[in-house]
Amino acid sequence: MTTLTSHPLASLLESLFAQADAATSPVVAELSEEERTRLMHSKTEYLDFYGRLKDLWLSVSRETGTLLYMLTRSTRARNVIEFGTSFGISTLHIAAALKDNGGGRVITGEFEPSKVARAREHFAASGLGDFIEIRQGNALETLAADLPEAIDLVLLDGAKALYVDILERLESRLTQGALLVADNADFSPDYLARVRSPTSGYLSTPFAGDIELSMRLD
Ligand SMILES: C[S@@+](CC[C@H](N)C(=O)[O-])C[C@H]1O[C@@H](n2cnc3c(N)ncnc32)[C@H](O)[C@@H]1O
Repeated sequence: MTTLTSHPLASLLESLFAQADAATSPVVAELSEEERTRLMHSKTEYLDFYGRLKDLWLSVSRETGTLLYMLTRSTRARNVIEFGTSFGISTLHIAAALKDNGGGRVITGEFEPSKVARAREHFAASGLGDFIEIRQGNALETLAADLPEAIDLVLLDGAKALYVDILERLESRLTQGALLVADNADFSPDYLARVRSPTSGYLSTPFAGDIELSMRLD
């Protein structure tokens, strides 16, 4: 058995995913495809965009959650950084893996105070709070200092246009073999160009439809 598939996390995640599935999204429905694409690519309007989405879960899929657990376990990760907490679904998968690895910490950044409050409730209910540090504020600042010396895995799932900026804050600390999991990276062409460049120091591939999975080579 794993922490992911045992009580209390398994039933908590079932309930959280069910709530996420049931949540309707009038804000997103009101946006034209064109406007949504523009906002997703914008480096200046993300505060307004995510502010409008503050009641939405926007969580990773069940499959991506399981994948995050597996990658965190198989790399024997100890230190994980997450950009974009929302209500904490992805964080819980990573924290479960850290517990099953024998210890570690996921530092996760979120700027919406109401989301941070909800995520904290879910972390408390999971019993995994000791493995999670949530930093409230713009991740461009909160994930720029007081970081672990060695980072084993990064989940990029906040404003897509900031993926390169966040990577630059973490890059010097990535261990050899560290994994970057970037959700919906298609909205971040500069990030894809960076990790796919033959001279970038990464091996990178699209994976599972909406993820870019990259490995630090040196
Ligand atoms: C796609 S959701 C994250 C979903 C979460 N990883 C999960 O699977 O449950 C993206 C989140 O990133 C937050 N966000 C976006 N840009 C941010 C920034 N610059 N700093 C902190 N949080 C940010 C948004 O408020 C939103 O809650």
